[in-house]
Amino acid sequence: MTAKIIDGKTIAQEVRAEWKVRADALKARGITPGLAVIIVGEDPASKVYVANKVKACAELGLHSEHVVMSADTPEATLLARIEALNNDPKIHGILVQLPVPKHINSDKVLNAISPDKDVDGFHPMNVGALATGNMRFAPCTPYGAMKLLEKAGVSIEGKHAVVVGRSNIVGKPMALMLLQQNATVTICTSRTVDLAKFTRDADILVVATGKARMITGDMIKPGAAVIDVGINRMDNGKLCGDVDFDSAKEVAGCITPVPGGVGPMTITMLVANTVQAAEWVAG
Ligand code: GUN
Repeated sequence: MTAKIIDGKTIAQEVRAEWKVRADALKARGITPGLAVIIVGEDPASKVYVANKVKACAELGLHSEHVVMSADTPEATLLARIEALNNDPKIHGILVQLPVPKHINSDKVLNAISPDKDVDGFHPMNVGALATGNMRFAPCTPYGAMKLLEKAGVSIEGKHAVVVGRSNIVGKPMALMLLQQNATVTICTSRTVDLAKFTRDADILVVATGKARMITGDMIKPGAAVIDVGINRMDNGKLCGDVDFDSAKEVAGCITPVPGGVGPMTITMLVANTVQAAEWVAG
């Protein structure tokens, strides 16, 4: 059996088009959704992600501000900049690219962003809202992964979903969103003893460990939906996921590739959250 490939690029275009209609409707009312993206320091991968986020906003006709701060920026300076953006009516969404340099307390930074502008969904109030089933802003990567499942026609209710990875950015919110849709959810980590015992029982398998190709075809239940959140660069410069695509696609029912799976959806859902934030302000 060869799995159906879940084409994240095409689905991302489709979802962006849906949100462009909503953004255009706001613009017709004189409100241009605006996103501020802050980057502190010179991490090359972060620079690429941030540039792509700003570019996606421009493509949809949103207002965006790209705030670049040097690696030695004092925490207080960053917090003051966030506060200014909290009070800026042109800005509906604020994102501080993680990780921030070590001398800055990331929890303090995430707490400083107004929960109403927290398009990353990382503020404790929004994390709590998600945990209590009152989702406001969902973190973009798991939100994008949920959209891929929806668009691929994967039913979630009553299914066993296994999430491998327990980060605040992906694993935990992904598990909560699956639970909210009535999946039976197991959260594993890369250190789970006999991990394959769990993954082989998964109807829906979401992998976000940052360990290249750690999930192989023999660890997957035949016909399962496999969502690979990993992006790892191999020695030959090519990208690969946390799932070994070649062996997995022979067993899974459907699977996301890397690149071209979850990646394009993350930025799409950031744009979606920004438009959503502007809609809430517009009433
Ligand atoms: N770093 C890696 N992923 C993310 C993300 O989704 N948001 C932010 N702000 N930083 C990240």
